[in-house]
Amino acid sequence: MLTTKEAIEKRRSIRKFKPDAVSREILEELINAARLAPSACNSQAWRFKIVADQIIKDKLVEAARQQRFVAQAPIVIVCCASLKEYVDDLILGTKDLADNHVFDQNIVELVMQGANYLRGLTPAQLGVIVEFNVAIAIEHIMLRALDFGLGTCLVRSLDKEKVRQIFNWDETMFVSALLPIGYPAENPEPRRRKSLSEIII
Ligand SMILES: Cc1cc2nc3c(=O)[nH]c(=O)nc-3n(C[C@H](O)[C@H](O)[C@H](O)COP(=O)(O)O)c2cc1C
Repeated sequence: MLTTKEAIEKRRSIRKFKPDAVSREILEELINAARLAPSACNSQAWRFKIVADQIIKDKLVEAARQQRFVAQAPIVIVCCASLKEYVDDLILGTKDLADNHVFDQNIVELVMQGANYLRGLTPAQLGVIVEFNVAIAIEHIMLRALDFGLGTCLVRSLDKEKVRQIFNWDETMFVSALLPIGYPAENPEPRRRKSLSEIII
């Protein structure tokens, strides 16, 4: 098992995979890592579709602007936010946190006011707000994957509508990213990073 520091330093985007299957148990461990991520008012809007079917993976390549490595991975996780329950879950989570004395009453009131605003947004507008939560959950998966020797690559250059069509989802299932997962068939050097002094403002 890697330390968090080791996982962060070891992670690379992997785009070449061995054909070896990833077990159901490991996939559940990965989704469990996502489940434990923090979210706005504990709303937990993330949803994950685990795809192993080659025909569907090939369709995902088309949605991912012909990024062929997506279909080469034994597993692709389609990472989404469910907008249908989002505002209700936001309120539920807020009340729960208030009941547990985590949130003050003024925060509860702010969320209630915000909820009306959120209900007035289009799915596309709301999705952009909600997917911040999904991104954190994805990072949990990417780091946890390293404990099992697995590689991942977040893919966001994507025609989201095409993805929804593949699964027959309506607009309330906001597609955020694809996450191809498998045992790496490459060992890339660390990619260039800005120095600390460049990023501390
Ligand atoms: C928001 C986001 C979108 C990305 N989209 C793609 C993508 O569509 N295709 C791809 O090959 N890599 C994609 N990547 C991976 C980046 O290219 C990669 O993280 C970056 O080059 C740094 O390399 P590293 O992850 O190996 O450190 C994406 C990463 C992020 C965070």
